[in-house]
Amino acid sequence: MVSIENITVEFHTKESSFKAIDAVTLNIEDGEVFGIVGTSGAGKSTLLRTINLLQKPTSGKIVIDTVDITDFSGAKLRDVRQKIGMIFQHFNLINTKTVFDNVAFPLKIAGASQEAIAKRVHELLNLVGLSDKSDVYPSKLSGGQKQRVGIARALANNPKILLCDEPTSALDLETTNAILDLLKDINRKLGITTIVITHEMDVIKKICTKVAVMDKGIVVETGNVYDIFSRPQHPFTQKLVAHTLNLELPPRLFHEEGKLIKVIYNGDKAENPVLSDAIRTFGVDINVLHGKIEYIDEKPLGVLILGIKDDEAQCDAVIDFLRERTASVEVYRG
Ligand SMILES: Nc1ncnc2c1ncn2[C@@H]1O[C@H](COP(=O)(O)OP(=O)(O)O)[C@@H](O)[C@H]1O
Ligand SMILES: [Mg+2]
Repeated sequence: MVSIENITVEFHTKESSFKAIDAVTLNIEDGEVFGIVGTSGAGKSTLLRTINLLQKPTSGKIVIDTVDITDFSGAKLRDVRQKIGMIFQHFNLINTKTVFDNVAFPLKIAGASQEAIAKRVHELLNLVGLSDKSDVYPSKLSGGQKQRVGIARALANNPKILLCDEPTSALDLETTNAILDLLKDINRKLGITTIVITHEMDVIKKICTKVAVMDKGIVVETGNVYDIFSRPQHPFTQKLVAHTLNLELPPRLFHEEGKLIKVIYNGDKAENPVLSDAIRTFGVDINVLHGKIEYIDEKPLGVLILGIKDDEAQCDAVIDFLRERTASVEVYRG
């Protein structure tokens, strides 16, 4: 387990000082894919860098598997860092070295033999799908291929933890999906604890099981990804997830007669025949005007915009009925 315990990071300038991280506490279980999401400047990179102590915290502790590493230095720190791999938005490859030598680099530092290095690099390039690029220089690779090299290099010394700082933010959508699939796959195969920071909720949705939401150096909310998407509590989180389930309605819908409501379904409820039940029970007409279902962590999360035309009492009864059987019902008009 990785425990970030009450970590604060202050930066000082000539005139002032400010807290880039303010009393953050997070517990990341072994083998999970944990996301930290927030807008630019929230403090995500600073927080991530405290885990391998590239950033020394002003106060608080970093505890890995019950060992407090906060004050480690020298050989002890080097040993800890060998068990923590890291990948970056801009890959940070050494451009004057081949793919082979980039991946071999951390193995050489760790003192592995030539033979062991050759074997391990071969394995790693296989794992990331780049067996044929061993002798190529980074400038000849696409962004996605560069990140694959970054991943292979990060895994060289069999780390237990993989830190990913915006790993797909420099990539197009298709490449992003391929890299996220690879990270998920590696997490499953190797059981490596993976911590991903990103400004995109889509990245969180695709690979994480737990998420912490950061704003201005503070963790405002943390929980299972599905819960955060289906029931965001903090206004900042609500804003972040809004676009995922947001449906743009044509303005004319707001001028028609009857009630206009937004229904959110989650879990098993998304697959229950709630609508047909309501129609049968109340004998009302319900029009589906708009809708979508997303699958997060393989569980459905749905949103429907419904129009109901009937007398007031009947409409209210239908809304109550739906409220009891779905995650939430919001009345837009009526
Ligand atoms: N070494 C540093 N010295 C001074 N300020 C820094 C330093 N590193 C980061 N910051 C500031 O801390 C804040 C958080 O930065 P960062 O962790 O990079 O945010 P994020 O990764 O969420 O975009 C920003 O305001 C940034 O300018
Ligand atoms: Mg950053």
